[in-house]
Amino acid sequence: MSAPAASSRESLRVAVVGHVDHGKSTLVGRLLHDTGSLPQGKVEAIRAMSERRGMPFEWAFLMDALQAERDQGITIDTSQIWFKTAKRDYVIIDAPGHKEFLKNMITGAAASDAALLVIDADEGVKEQSRRHGYLLHLLGVRQVAVAVNKMDLVGYGEARFAAIEKEYRAYLAGIGVTPTYIIPIAARDGQGIVAHSDKMPWYKGPHVLEALERFNVVTLPTHLPLRMPVQDVYKFDDRRIIAGRIESGTLKVGDRIVFSPSNKTVRVKSIEAWAAPQPTQAGAGQSVGFTMDEQIFVERGEIVSHEQSPPVETDVFRARLFWLGKKPMTPGARYKLKLATAEANVRVQAIERVIDTGDLSTAAATEVPHSAVAEVILQGDRMLALDEFASSPLTGRFVLVDGYDIVGGGIVSMEGYADQRQLITVRASNITRVEHSVSVDARARRNGHNGGVIWLTGLSGSGKSTLSVAVERRLFNLGYQVYVLDGDNMRHGLNADLGFSPEERAENIRRVGEVAALMSHAGLVVITAFISPYRSDRERARRATGENFHEVYVKADLATCEKRDPKGLYRRARAGEIADFTGISAPYEAPENPELTIDTGALDIEASIDVVTSYVRANLSIGGARARAAGGA
Ligand code: ADX
Repeated sequence: MSAPAASSRESLRVAVVGHVDHGKSTLVGRLLHDTGSLPQGKVEAIRAMSERRGMPFEWAFLMDALQAERDQGITIDTSQIWFKTAKRDYVIIDAPGHKEFLKNMITGAAASDAALLVIDADEGVKEQSRRHGYLLHLLGVRQVAVAVNKMDLVGYGEARFAAIEKEYRAYLAGIGVTPTYIIPIAARDGQGIVAHSDKMPWYKGPHVLEALERFNVVTLPTHLPLRMPVQDVYKFDDRRIIAGRIESGTLKVGDRIVFSPSNKTVRVKSIEAWAAPQPTQAGAGQSVGFTMDEQIFVERGEIVSHEQSPPVETDVFRARLFWLGKKPMTPGARYKLKLATAEANVRVQAIERVIDTGDLSTAAATEVPHSAVAEVILQGDRMLALDEFASSPLTGRFVLVDGYDIVGGGIVSMEGYADQRQLITVRASNITRVEHSVSVDARARRNGHNGGVIWLTGLSGSGKSTLSVAVERRLFNLGYQVYVLDGDNMRHGLNADLGFSPEERAENIRRVGEVAALMSHAGLVVITAFISPYRSDRERARRATGENFHEVYVKADLATCEKRDPKGLYRRARAGEIADFTGISAPYEAPENPELTIDTGALDIEASIDVVTSYVRANLSIGGARARAAGGA
């Protein structure tokens, strides 16, 4: 894509949004015409055509004609229109509907500096006007001008304008958007577009063009950490050139960089350009290629960053999502996620709440209907590299695709979830595994049973600790080598340095998982009693142990646990004295496919002990059924 004028000229990207019937095309047509940006004779041709067909001239016809030309590839880009003033160039990003708007905004291909939102003075603030406002808020567009159009239909009346302004300002205030300007116009008659309207002398603010001229081009985020999503990897002889657009930050020759989520690190050897001399650095907004000091294997979709400020790595995140699917979004549904240049399969783990964009009320819901905004938890089938939208917009937004259709778009939040990078990064180098001289089988024969991990998970107060020590006693009496690892105990020792933030919990479980694995390989039956709220942490613990890892869901709903409140912690959490309390202000991801479930709300303690003890005997005795074969309780 190339700008129509010299590249030294500044260009402002303006998204024009609003209900079709509210006069968007007319406004854009007028802007083009009144700034002298239309091809010679274009308007006359359309006027003549309208006359021939006996129809009154509409600016929308002009826009349709321009669109048709663009569709034939006469101009460069299908969704963009240029015009210019003495001050600078403008790119109008015309977004006919929500879908196009989201697609444009989220893919970053057309991230806009400002938005012009059109409302019909006669019809007033419509559901769509609210939704558009909400979308702007969601996508972080801060410079917003609202054009209240068709003022001619309401007799250019100040009172009508004031009422709409008041209503819409109040709505936008509710979502934290302050419109920069609200402007009364009559686009068809050219009132208030590029000149002050003589019909509305009561309005003292800027006309549309003035408002646009006052907006600033959003500066390229060179000050943010480096983010360069890999678009392509080209192989030349034995060199690889990594190509992509630098979304933020700066890349220099000699920099140590890391690819996420593969976590491979290299040094930048050269930045390739067509023109000599070769640049030694490149920054946000530039599309570049670079070579590396080592020829590692990486693919499209990875994000390049500096080692000290990498993106988040996670397989689960919270999203604020705008849903456009024909079918409602339901828990368990699977979609393709596109984030920067990456694609991954995701599954809806939970729908937390649905936000009514009309009155901004939120409600618990089991599905997300068309056009609603929702907060959902998405789980990837692999590790993803991403950012929180608030810290890095371009790598913090995504679209969801179902088949070939974009069905939603949203922004990333990690609230309540851990960056898992630290958990999967191995820092040591030059390490080799040592083989043991005593085999697992030899240990099992001496103990009379296999080693294994009985991993209890559940809310605080669900009965994990009580159950674990009782089962420990039973198994010990039966001759088992058995040991309990308990959350509260471990947090006094090995994990005394860890609190309850998502990252610290994840690290807590990583260490426990490794210790439990070691102990089970040493031949013991290890019973762990940790909330272990995250699925991916438990899966990592499972992988550390290998076979003979048995997940036991100690099930008791929040109300039951809160009623028991053995340590008085729920009361304190409710009183706001404990932050990030599981079930109240921090997430708990219940197991989806545990080997065993103990419902401590339904079973009494003796019965629960019996079930777990029998399970261990059945599964860890020599020659006993292994792992999943035994199924749930
Ligand atoms: S985990 O989430 O990291 O697995 P863990 O099982 O080790 O937690 O510790 C949970 C115990 O710590 C709870 O039973 C409770 O006694 C105590 N605790 C203190 N603060 C919190 C909190 N914010 N959330 C949950 N448990 C807490």
